[in-house]
Amino acid sequence: MFTKEEIISVFRGDIIGREIIYSESTTSTNDMAFEVGRNRTDPEGIVVVADTQTQGKGRLGRSWISPAGVNLYFTLLLNPPISPEDATIISLAAPAAVAAAIRKHTGLPAQIKWPNDIHISSKKAGGILVEMKANKDNTILLAVGIGINVNMPPDALPPDIRPLSTSLKTEKGKSIDRLKLLREMLSELENSYKFLLHGNKRALINDWVRLNSTIGRTVSVQSQERTISGIAENINDKGELLVRLSSGDIEVVRAGDVTILK
Ligand code: BTN
Repeated sequence: MFTKEEIISVFRGDIIGREIIYSESTTSTNDMAFEVGRNRTDPEGIVVVADTQTQGKGRLGRSWISPAGVNLYFTLLLNPPISPEDATIISLAAPAAVAAAIRKHTGLPAQIKWPNDIHISSKKAGGILVEMKANKDNTILLAVGIGINVNMPPDALPPDIRPLSTSLKTEKGKSIDRLKLLREMLSELENSYKFLLHGNKRALINDWVRLNSTIGRTVSVQSQERTISGIAENINDKGELLVRLSSGDIEVVRAGDVTILK
């Protein structure tokens, strides 16, 4: 279990972590962050951390299993002074920062599966849910929610997703200090966010490409409408996946689930 004091002083960046709010248990740190954002005139950089979530949310309407005492669940609240189009790059920059922090802190070969799953040895160890809302003053408010399976035992997950998932402890063979890992992640996220604010999108995309496990592979992508297969050729500046179909045509994929076939 965390103490409130150790979380609120875990990291203080110029932007990220100007203020850190800790709740032992909440519905979802993303929802809590938006709630905080509604009541603040300057929400930029506030971080919300919880030890457990009762209604943790995953991408594509799924739930995120959030047991107490073992993992990391936190949300960055951002109010970027840039266009919504430019701000969407945060959904690539955040997983790149998180994967880099895991590599630094644990030595594990963390990778990103498009768009923002954190994988180790082809199994999911974490995920990121970015949600966007219009603010009162017509700027945008982003909740960048990050969930990492740190010390969770395999049997905390339902049997059907167990073979596809892992935790850092399972991969490393020993417990990981959640607080130190959180500090490393917030520090990497602060650096990436500053790059974004300075318009350095290319560097952020390059970081994502360097750490991803998807480009160059044969994939199938399941979206709401249909499933396609082909070679994942690249991502574009919006972070969309470009898949070359067997016909030779390029399909631009905005959202979906990737399975790496070979
Ligand atoms: C996914 O891979 O589906 C995204 C998972 C995101 C989970 C995190 S945990 C902290 C934040 N609060 C939530 O309710 N979801 C995100």
